[in-house]
Amino acid sequence: MTHTVSTGGTARAGRALTPKAPGMHIDLEHAKAARPVSRSGPAITCDDVKVFYKDFLAVRDVNMQFNRNEVSALIGPSGCGKSTVLRCLNRMNDLVPGARVEGMIRFEGTNIYGEGVDSAEVRRRIGMVFQKPNPFPKSIYDNVAYGPRVTKMQVDNMDDLVEESLRKAAIWDEVKSNLKGSALSLSGGQQQRLCIARAIATKPEVILMDEPCSALDPIATLKIEDLMDDLAKEFTIIIVTHNMQQAARVSQRTAFFTAEADEHGDRTGRLVEFDETAKIFSNPSDERTEAYISGRFG
Ligand SMILES: Nc1ncnc2c1ncn2[C@@H]1O[C@H](COP(=O)(O)OP(=O)(O)OP(=O)(O)O)[C@@H](O)[C@H]1O
Ligand SMILES: [Mg+2]
Repeated sequence: MTHTVSTGGTARAGRALTPKAPGMHIDLEHAKAARPVSRSGPAITCDDVKVFYKDFLAVRDVNMQFNRNEVSALIGPSGCGKSTVLRCLNRMNDLVPGARVEGMIRFEGTNIYGEGVDSAEVRRRIGMVFQKPNPFPKSIYDNVAYGPRVTKMQVDNMDDLVEESLRKAAIWDEVKSNLKGSALSLSGGQQQRLCIARAIATKPEVILMDEPCSALDPIATLKIEDLMDDLAKEFTIIIVTHNMQQAARVSQRTAFFTAEADEHGDRTGRLVEFDETAKIFSNPSDERTEAYISGRFG
């Protein structure tokens, strides 16, 4: 097995938050080696996190550390809580009535649910890309400029910021002559890269992606996967995916979740293990992970 070892030398020290099927073949040939946890610590840490929707315990046992400048993948069967956990990492779940988080989620050392923490600032610094491309019905330019404008970000030159964001999302060449054209006229794959450009424009440190390729064809999917490595040089990426090959291709670390029914038949999701991707897919510690990745379960 060949590992593409990256030194992770671009890791940045972030700022603290200001208070306010059997036989399935998973290709590990190109698996990426996990980088050592940077000395300045992980970007996001979850300690004993549980998430409820009203009285329903949706997911528990979430203990994870997401390293800076790595891609981490969350996998597991439907309903095991992947999206729930992802949405809690930037307080997007605050917008879901009845959602409640227990335990501790720290971003750059600060409890993001702590008193005085501004959830809008959390969401700016931890951006999100959704399953279905969701550009605004505006021009390509205005989609990218939207975040910086509404957050009143200090921007020296908006044209430069728009270009830089579109370049980083690997879509500049396809749209540079049509920046005033409607974002809705782009293909699904282009729209998703535009949404990545929109997320990047507010200069986040972390980007969360919930099945970003599930609505895309294989070529558009490959473009996003190719982009992932470059994005990780600058951002910390956490991606939910149903596609195990994709997790093996793009991530350095993988978290496997499952859902088990209790005595009342309520299915609660739980984190089973979180480890280097190569280990999860070749020699997992837990037999439930083994069963899932070999296609015997889920
Ligand atoms: N807004 C909500 N209100 C109530 N329960 C919810 C809500 N969203 C999710 N749940 C429940 O929480 C559990 C976890 O759901 P979640 O969507 O996080 O799973 P998932 O792993 O992302 O699944 P999938 O792979 O199908 O996207 C499920 O039992 C689900 O029914
Ligand atoms: Mg989901």
